[in-house]
Amino acid sequence: MAAEQPIPVYTNLTDLYGSLGTSLNHAEKWNSVAEEFQQRFGRKPAFIARAPGRVNLIGIIFHITKAQSSQPAILTIIRIGEHIDYCLFGVLPAAIERDILIAISRRPNIHAEDAPGSVFAENMQTKYTRQVFAPAPRRRASVSEEEVRLEEWHLDINTKELRWESYVKAGYYGVLINYFAGGSNPAPVDILVTGTVPAGSGLSSSAAMVVGSTLAFLAVNGKLEGNFTGNGPKITKGQLVEMAVANEKRVGVNSGGMDQAASVISVPSSALYISFFPELSASAVPLPSGAVFIIANSLVVSDKAVTAKRNYNLRVVETLAAARILARRLELKVEKTEKVTLREVVGRLAGEVEEAGEMPVEWLLETLKRMEREIECLKPSKSSEEGQMGVTMEEMIEMSGLTAEEFHDVYLSWVEVEATHFQLYKRAKHVFSEASRVLQFRQICLAAESSPSSPMDVIKDLGQLMNESQTSCNELFQCSCPELNELTEIAMNAGAFGSRLTGAGWGGCTVSLVAEDNVDSFIKKVSATYGPYKGLHGEALDEVIFATKPSSGACVYKFE
Ligand code: GLA
Repeated sequence: MAAEQPIPVYTNLTDLYGSLGTSLNHAEKWNSVAEEFQQRFGRKPAFIARAPGRVNLIGIIFHITKAQSSQPAILTIIRIGEHIDYCLFGVLPAAIERDILIAISRRPNIHAEDAPGSVFAENMQTKYTRQVFAPAPRRRASVSEEEVRLEEWHLDINTKELRWESYVKAGYYGVLINYFAGGSNPAPVDILVTGTVPAGSGLSSSAAMVVGSTLAFLAVNGKLEGNFTGNGPKITKGQLVEMAVANEKRVGVNSGGMDQAASVISVPSSALYISFFPELSASAVPLPSGAVFIIANSLVVSDKAVTAKRNYNLRVVETLAAARILARRLELKVEKTEKVTLREVVGRLAGEVEEAGEMPVEWLLETLKRMEREIECLKPSKSSEEGQMGVTMEEMIEMSGLTAEEFHDVYLSWVEVEATHFQLYKRAKHVFSEASRVLQFRQICLAAESSPSSPMDVIKDLGQLMNESQTSCNELFQCSCPELNELTEIAMNAGAFGSRLTGAGWGGCTVSLVAEDNVDSFIKKVSATYGPYKGLHGEALDEVIFATKPSSGACVYKFE
């Protein structure tokens, strides 16, 4: 299983570039970060950690059409299945070629004033200024002086005012908590960050930063040693994903595990079917040839951490509340303090045995269909305002069968949300239908591999699923925005088979499925029509609309 494999560590650049599965010029970027590190810190880095971004498939990139040598390679993920990972439904992302690189090494001349684990962090983008920080052992009143080092560490992350280094700190956090709880001190280090995943674009720049940072701090503190030597315990891709998911919560977003899994586990030329229930598992899904996925940035920046209480985190709470209410109506067992997910409700209804692994696809699809009928009970009672599909807080609590206090403890005590109505019906309808689309998309790809007779029909079917996903994201999950809607419409008029938003939405990128021989004309048409692209040429245009192909996941280069 892909999740059980160790994190790849390379000592030879030819092997590393060969493993990335991209035709972009990685060498230039890796060399420049190593040279810049040498210049700024007076020595070579000890490691470079790399983590790609992602795009979501119902949104996959099949093939790259032109090498963009001037543009550093990036790994991001393309995926299908928006906003269903935190409901524990399977998703189908792929890593793209844009990535984050983090060069790191221990500080050789440690001075008395260097706190344990202190970090001098620099970024190659000049707008991100140099930051110096150090973790502090968290003291509890009841803990004696000698025991303090057994306690957790603390790093200040202001979730109200996130900065570039907040993501570096978030990655570092998990390394401190998991590996420095027993009295040893982390090394003081210098780091240099560079990246090509545009921030706030729905291409998982935050996951790539957090995965890259986790990996860099693991490597520099000798925690990946087993992975270099082949002896001793190795850190697996699955373990890194779990750590990165927990780490990313420290920047205030309760994201599911899709971005981190795609950034870590992806393989070249394929999408990845990632399932989160009953446990994290991932398998490659071959993509049909003949079409290309094109990413187009709406240029609306959507920072999910900043808008979390009205958007992302609110959706997490709505889907969780919907799950409890559905379970109650279906008379399924749910503990009072349990945050049951929509996927678990489906499993309990179907009588799934967790120990036996994920239930067979046909069975899951059938139960999902039934759920699309059962969700009627999530609609507001007749007394609600005309046309309003949502329920008030009071109605939601009553429907849940919990007291206000119990509901608050389970669903609201850990997150800030802001809404007058909670759209339980619409959110659940999106989740169940999107989960079905992921399974159908995967089935189509697998069937096409075994009988590759009419590739265009396959591509049309995939495009259709992408379009349905966009409609559902827009109308039911309400995570699109006018610019994303306009861009997907322009893409369809320019000859795409399907087009949809990718990532959390509310801005960021679209992904469109386009025939391989139509790529240049597609890009020309979209560039000429989408207002914010007017006046962009050459590299500036390549930055906002580009083809990419699935690349491999995170890795480390070790300097010898
Ligand atoms: C963000 C989150 C993911 C996922 C997507 C929406 O990218 O980090 O976990 O929920 O949004 O599909």
